[in-house]
Amino acid sequence: MKIIAGNWKMNGTPEENIARLRGIKEAVKPTQNKIIVFPPFLSVPDAVSVLADSDIAIGAQNCYPRPDGAFTGEVSVTMLKGVGCAYCLVGHSERRQYFAESDDFLREKVIAVAEAGMIPVFCVGESEEQRENGSYRRVLAGQIKNVLSGLKLEKEEIYIAYEPVWAIGTGKTATPEDADETMGMIREILRDIGQPDDLYLLYGGSAKPANAEALLSRKNIDGLLIGGASLKPDDFAAMAAVQL
Ligand code: PGA
Repeated sequence: MKIIAGNWKMNGTPEENIARLRGIKEAVKPTQNKIIVFPPFLSVPDAVSVLADSDIAIGAQNCYPRPDGAFTGEVSVTMLKGVGCAYCLVGHSERRQYFAESDDFLREKVIAVAEAGMIPVFCVGESEEQRENGSYRRVLAGQIKNVLSGLKLEKEEIYIAYEPVWAIGTGKTATPEDADETMGMIREILRDIGQPDDLYLLYGGSAKPANAEALLSRKNIDGLLIGGASLKPDDFAAMAAVQL
Protein backbone atom coordinates (compact mmCIF):
# COMPACT_ATOMS: atom_id res chain seq x y z
CA MET A 1 0.00 0.00 0.00
CA LYS A 2 1.31 3.42 -0.97
CA ILE A 3 -0.16 6.83 -0.13
CA ILE A 4 -0.89 9.10 -3.06
CA ALA A 5 -1.89 12.59 -1.94
CA GLY A 6 -2.74 15.62 -4.07
CA ASN A 7 -2.16 19.13 -2.70
CA TRP A 8 -4.16 21.49 -4.91
CA LYS A 9 -2.81 24.62 -3.17
CA MET A 10 -4.72 27.86 -3.96
CA ASN A 11 -6.11 26.74 -7.29
CA GLY A 12 -9.53 26.50 -8.90
CA THR A 13 -12.86 28.25 -8.47
CA PRO A 14 -15.51 26.12 -6.75
CA GLU A 15 -16.98 25.28 -10.21
CA GLU A 16 -13.60 24.33 -11.65
CA ASN A 17 -12.85 22.20 -8.64
CA ILE A 18 -16.16 20.34 -8.86
CA ALA A 19 -15.18 19.42 -12.43
CA ARG A 20 -11.72 18.41 -11.19
CA LEU A 21 -13.21 16.27 -8.43
CA ARG A 22 -15.54 14.54 -10.91
CA GLY A 23 -12.61 13.97 -13.25
CA ILE A 24 -10.56 12.43 -10.45
CA LYS A 25 -13.41 10.24 -9.28
CA GLU A 26 -13.84 8.94 -12.81
CA ALA A 27 -10.13 8.49 -13.59
CA VAL A 28 -8.88 6.91 -10.34
CA LYS A 29 -9.47 3.16 -10.53
CA PRO A 30 -9.90 0.89 -7.49
CA THR A 31 -6.50 0.34 -5.90
CA GLN A 32 -4.78 -0.93 -2.77
CA ASN A 33 -3.19 2.51 -2.43
CA LYS A 34 -4.57 5.16 -0.11
CA ILE A 35 -5.66 8.18 -2.16
CA ILE A 36 -6.16 11.60 -0.58
CA VAL A 37 -7.01 15.01 -2.06
CA PHE A 38 -6.32 18.32 -0.33
CA PRO A 39 -8.53 20.92 -2.06
CA PRO A 40 -8.75 24.58 -1.00
CA PHE A 41 -11.09 25.09 2.00
CA LEU A 42 -14.00 26.35 -0.12
CA SER A 43 -13.99 23.15 -2.17
CA VAL A 44 -13.80 20.77 0.79
CA PRO A 45 -17.61 20.39 1.18
CA ASP A 46 -17.88 19.73 -2.59
CA ALA A 47 -15.11 17.15 -2.29
CA VAL A 48 -17.06 15.44 0.50
CA SER A 49 -20.21 15.23 -1.63
CA VAL A 50 -18.62 14.40 -5.01
CA LEU A 51 -16.34 11.73 -3.51
CA ALA A 52 -18.94 10.37 -1.06
CA ASP A 53 -19.23 6.94 -2.66
CA SER A 54 -15.54 6.55 -3.52
CA ASP A 55 -12.49 5.42 -1.56
CA ILE A 56 -10.78 8.79 -1.99
CA ALA A 57 -10.22 10.57 1.32
CA ILE A 58 -10.21 14.32 1.90
CA GLY A 59 -7.78 16.53 3.74
CA ALA A 60 -7.36 20.24 4.45
CA GLN A 61 -4.29 22.29 3.55
CA ASN A 62 -4.21 24.21 6.81
CA CYS A 63 -6.01 24.71 10.12
CA TYR A 64 -6.03 26.85 13.22
CA PRO A 65 -5.19 24.83 16.32
CA ARG A 66 -8.17 25.82 18.51
CA PRO A 67 -11.68 24.34 18.47
CA ASP A 68 -13.42 27.73 18.22
CA GLY A 69 -13.19 31.31 19.42
CA ALA A 70 -12.21 34.83 18.43
CA PHE A 71 -9.76 34.07 15.61
CA THR A 72 -11.20 36.05 12.70
CA GLY A 73 -10.65 34.45 9.35
CA GLU A 74 -9.37 31.11 10.63
CA VAL A 75 -10.71 27.58 10.17
CA SER A 76 -10.60 25.26 13.19
CA VAL A 77 -9.69 21.61 13.43
CA THR A 78 -13.20 20.95 14.78
CA MET A 79 -14.79 22.49 11.67
CA LEU A 80 -12.56 20.45 9.39
CA LYS A 81 -13.32 17.24 11.20
CA GLY A 82 -17.03 18.12 11.18
CA VAL A 83 -17.14 18.69 7.43
CA GLY A 84 -15.46 15.35 6.69
CA CYS A 85 -11.69 15.89 6.56
CA ALA A 86 -9.60 12.98 7.76
CA TYR A 87 -6.19 14.61 7.15
CA CYS A 88 -4.59 18.04 7.46
CA LEU A 89 -1.29 19.34 6.08
CA VAL A 90 0.91 20.98 8.71
CA GLY A 91 4.12 22.90 8.06
CA HIS A 92 4.12 23.01 4.28
CA SER A 93 7.15 25.07 3.23
CA GLU A 94 4.87 27.68 1.66
CA ARG A 95 3.25 28.22 5.07
CA ARG A 96 6.65 28.40 6.76
CA GLN A 97 8.00 30.80 4.13
CA TYR A 98 5.07 33.12 3.34
CA PHE A 99 3.20 33.02 6.65
CA ALA A 100 6.19 32.72 9.00
CA GLU A 101 4.80 29.68 10.79
CA SER A 102 7.18 28.74 13.59
CA ASP A 103 8.06 25.30 14.91
CA ASP A 104 6.13 26.08 18.12
CA PHE A 105 3.00 26.93 16.15
CA LEU A 106 3.39 23.83 13.98
CA ARG A 107 3.70 21.72 17.10
CA GLU A 108 0.39 23.15 18.35
CA LYS A 109 -1.18 22.30 15.01
CA VAL A 110 0.10 18.72 14.97
CA ILE A 111 -1.31 18.20 18.46
CA ALA A 112 -4.66 19.85 17.64
CA VAL A 113 -5.12 17.88 14.41
CA ALA A 114 -4.32 14.59 16.14
CA GLU A 115 -6.54 15.39 19.12
CA ALA A 116 -9.41 16.18 16.74
CA GLY A 117 -9.05 12.64 15.39
CA MET A 118 -7.47 13.55 12.05
CA ILE A 119 -4.05 12.60 10.69
CA PRO A 120 -1.53 15.45 10.42
CA VAL A 121 0.66 15.26 7.33
CA PHE A 122 3.67 17.07 8.75
CA CYS A 123 5.95 18.57 6.08
CA VAL A 124 9.68 19.14 6.39
CA GLY A 125 12.35 20.07 3.88
CA GLU A 126 15.57 21.98 3.29
CA SER A 127 16.33 24.90 0.96
CA GLU A 128 18.68 24.63 -1.99
CA GLU A 129 21.43 26.44 -0.08
CA GLN A 130 21.07 24.06 2.87
CA ARG A 131 21.25 21.07 0.53
CA GLU A 132 24.37 22.44 -1.14
CA ASN A 133 26.24 23.47 2.00
CA GLY A 134 25.47 20.14 3.67
CA SER A 135 23.51 21.58 6.59
CA TYR A 136 20.30 19.80 5.53
CA ARG A 137 20.65 17.01 8.07
CA ARG A 138 20.80 19.51 10.92
CA VAL A 139 17.93 21.51 9.41
CA LEU A 140 15.67 18.46 9.05
CA ALA A 141 16.60 17.22 12.52
CA GLY A 142 15.65 20.62 13.97
CA GLN A 143 12.33 20.77 12.11
CA ILE A 144 11.42 17.28 13.30
CA LYS A 145 12.70 17.50 16.88
CA ASN A 146 11.18 20.91 17.60
CA VAL A 147 7.75 19.73 16.56
CA LEU A 148 7.58 16.04 17.43
CA SER A 149 9.81 15.52 20.49
CA GLY A 150 7.91 14.19 23.45
CA LEU A 151 4.65 13.55 21.57
CA LYS A 152 3.17 10.07 21.80
CA LEU A 153 2.67 9.03 18.20
CA GLU A 154 1.63 5.70 16.77
CA LYS A 155 2.37 4.68 13.19
CA GLU A 156 -1.17 5.33 11.96
CA GLU A 157 -1.47 8.73 13.68
CA ILE A 158 0.84 10.95 11.65
CA TYR A 159 2.47 11.00 8.21
CA ILE A 160 5.65 12.89 7.44
CA ALA A 161 6.19 14.52 4.04
CA TYR A 162 9.77 15.22 3.01
CA GLU A 163 9.58 18.07 0.52
CA PRO A 164 12.91 19.64 -0.42
CA VAL A 165 12.04 23.30 -1.02
CA TRP A 166 14.24 23.42 -4.13
CA ALA A 167 12.14 20.67 -5.73
CA ILE A 168 8.68 22.17 -5.11
CA GLY A 169 7.07 23.51 -8.26
CA THR A 170 10.45 23.78 -9.97
CA GLY A 171 10.39 20.66 -12.13
CA LYS A 172 13.62 19.62 -10.34
CA THR A 173 12.87 16.35 -8.58
CA ALA A 174 15.24 14.83 -6.06
CA THR A 175 16.63 11.65 -7.56
CA PRO A 176 14.99 8.54 -6.11
CA GLU A 177 18.39 7.66 -4.57
CA ASP A 178 18.81 11.06 -2.88
CA ALA A 179 15.21 11.17 -1.68
CA ASP A 180 15.49 7.64 -0.31
CA GLU A 181 18.76 8.37 1.45
CA THR A 182 17.44 11.58 3.03
CA MET A 183 14.26 9.84 4.09
CA GLY A 184 16.33 7.04 5.64
CA MET A 185 18.01 9.83 7.62
CA ILE A 186 14.58 11.07 8.70
CA ARG A 187 13.91 7.60 10.11
CA GLU A 188 17.14 7.88 12.14
CA ILE A 189 16.09 11.30 13.42
CA LEU A 190 12.71 9.85 14.47
CA ARG A 191 14.51 7.03 16.27
CA ASP A 192 16.78 9.53 18.04
CA ILE A 193 13.78 11.31 19.53
CA GLY A 194 12.01 8.12 20.54
CA GLN A 195 9.36 8.17 17.79
CA PRO A 196 8.47 5.10 15.74
CA ASP A 197 10.91 4.96 12.80
CA ASP A 198 8.38 3.19 10.60
CA LEU A 199 6.01 6.16 10.26
CA TYR A 200 4.66 6.62 6.73
CA LEU A 201 7.02 8.93 4.84
CA LEU A 202 5.86 10.75 1.71
CA TYR A 203 8.13 12.42 -0.82
CA GLY A 204 7.01 15.73 -2.38
CA GLY A 205 8.59 18.01 -4.97
CA SER A 206 7.85 17.81 -8.72
CA ALA A 207 6.52 14.27 -8.46
CA LYS A 208 4.79 13.33 -11.71
CA PRO A 209 3.69 10.25 -13.67
CA ALA A 210 7.15 9.91 -15.25
CA ASN A 211 8.97 9.57 -11.91
CA ALA A 212 6.27 8.20 -9.58
CA GLU A 213 7.13 4.54 -9.88
CA ALA A 214 10.90 5.07 -9.49
CA LEU A 215 10.31 7.12 -6.34
CA LEU A 216 7.69 4.79 -4.86
CA SER A 217 9.83 1.71 -5.38
CA ARG A 218 12.42 3.02 -2.89
CA LYS A 219 12.47 1.44 0.55
CA ASN A 220 11.97 4.62 2.57
CA ILE A 221 9.30 6.17 0.33
CA ASP A 222 5.78 5.16 1.37
CA GLY A 223 3.92 7.71 -0.71
CA LEU A 224 3.90 10.95 -2.66
CA LEU A 225 2.60 14.44 -1.90
CA ILE A 226 1.88 15.87 -5.33
CA GLY A 227 1.27 19.53 -6.16
CA GLY A 228 1.10 20.56 -9.83
CA ALA A 229 0.51 17.09 -11.28
CA SER A 230 -2.39 16.44 -8.89
CA LEU A 231 -4.44 19.16 -10.61
CA LYS A 232 -4.70 17.04 -13.75
CA PRO A 233 -7.08 14.13 -13.14
CA ASP A 234 -5.34 11.82 -15.64
CA ASP A 235 -1.87 12.48 -14.22
CA PHE A 236 -3.12 12.03 -10.66
CA ALA A 237 -4.91 8.81 -11.63
CA ALA A 238 -1.77 7.48 -13.32
CA MET A 239 0.18 8.03 -10.10
CA ALA A 240 -2.62 6.56 -7.99
CA ALA A 241 -2.48 3.43 -10.13
CA VAL A 242 1.21 2.60 -9.45
CA GLN A 243 1.29 -0.92 -8.02
CA LEU A 244 4.28 -2.15 -6.02
P1 PGA B 1 4.88 20.14 -6.67
O1 PGA B 1 4.39 20.53 -5.19
O2 PGA B 1 4.51 18.70 -6.89
O3 PGA B 1 4.11 21.08 -7.58
O4 PGA B 1 6.35 20.35 -6.73
C1 PGA B 1 4.50 19.63 -4.12
C2 PGA B 1 3.99 20.25 -2.84
O5 PGA B 1 4.26 21.45 -2.62
O6 PGA B 1 3.30 19.60 -2.03
